[in-house]
Amino acid sequence: MFWLNKEEEQNRKDAAKRIASAKKTIALTGAGISVASNIMPFRGKGGLWEKYDPEEVAEINSFLKNPAKSWAFLKEMQKVVEKARPNPAHISLAKMEELGYLASIITQNVDGLHQEAGNKVVIEFHGNTRRLVCLECRKLYPSEDISLDALPPYCPSCGGLLKPDVVLFGEPIPGAALMQARLEVQQCEVMLIVGTSGLVEPAASLPSAAKRNGAFIVEINPERTVLTATVANIFLQGRAEEILPLLADELSAIKEG
Ligand code: APR
Repeated sequence: MFWLNKEEEQNRKDAAKRIASAKKTIALTGAGISVASNIMPFRGKGGLWEKYDPEEVAEINSFLKNPAKSWAFLKEMQKVVEKARPNPAHISLAKMEELGYLASIITQNVDGLHQEAGNKVVIEFHGNTRRLVCLECRKLYPSEDISLDALPPYCPSCGGLLKPDVVLFGEPIPGAALMQARLEVQQCEVMLIVGTSGLVEPAASLPSAAKRNGAFIVEINPERTVLTATVANIFLQGRAEEILPLLADELSAIKEG
C-alpha cells in the first residue's frame, strides 16, 4: 500500500511538472467530473443509460417524433443540473487556469459547472442544458424563462418546438465549438483528460489527435478506459474531486518556487 501511494504521488508530481513546463495545457472533461456534484454519469454502474434508452430519449429523430417523451427525460436532467454546484474538481481546474497553467477546457458536459467554478475559456462540445433553442427561429432562451409544466415547450415568439441547447445523438457538434476545440488540440503540449469513458465521437478522438501532434496525455479516472492503454502517458487512477485538488496544490507549490 505504501509503495502504491508513493507511486501515485510520484505520478502526480510528474504530471504537475509536465503541466508547469508546457507552453499550453488544456483539459477534456466528461461526466465523471460532475459526479461529486450529484449529476449521474451516462455509462457504468448507476449511469443514466442503465435507466433510460438513449435511442428513445436522447436521439434527434426520436425527439422530433415524440418530443413530450424525450422532454420528460430532459426535464429531469435539467432539474438535477439546476441544483448542482461545482465540486472540488471543477474548482481545482479554475485554480489551475488562474495560476496560468490551464489554457482552456473542452467539456462534453452540459451542466455549466466549469464556468460557475470560474473557468473563463470553456468550449461546450455538447451544448448546455441551461439554455433552450427554438428549432424554427433558432432563438435561445435561458431555461428558467420557460415553463416546463406542459411538455413539450414551444417558442414564445414563433411557436416552434423548443429543445434544450444540447447535442442529441444524431446531431452535429456546433461548428464554432468543433473548430475551437480542434485548434486547442493542435496547439496543446499537455492534455488532461478527466472523467470521460472516451466512447462517444468525435470527442473521443481528440486525445489521440493531440497525441499525434506530440502532446503529453494525463488521464484521471477511477477506472481504466479505452484511452488508458492507447493514449495516456500518465494515468492517475482515482476520483477527479480527490486528485485534481492535489494536482492543483502541486502546481501552486511549483509556482511559488
Ligand atoms: N471522477 C472522475 N471520473 C469518474 C468519476 C469521478 N468521481 N466517477 C466516474 N468517473 C468516470 C467513469 O469511470 C467513466 O469513465 O467518468 C466516466 C463517465 O463516462 P460516461 O458516463 O460515458 O460520460 P462521458 O464520457 O462524458 O460521455 C460522453 O456520452 O451520452 C453521451 O452526450 C453524452 O457527453 C456525453 C457523452
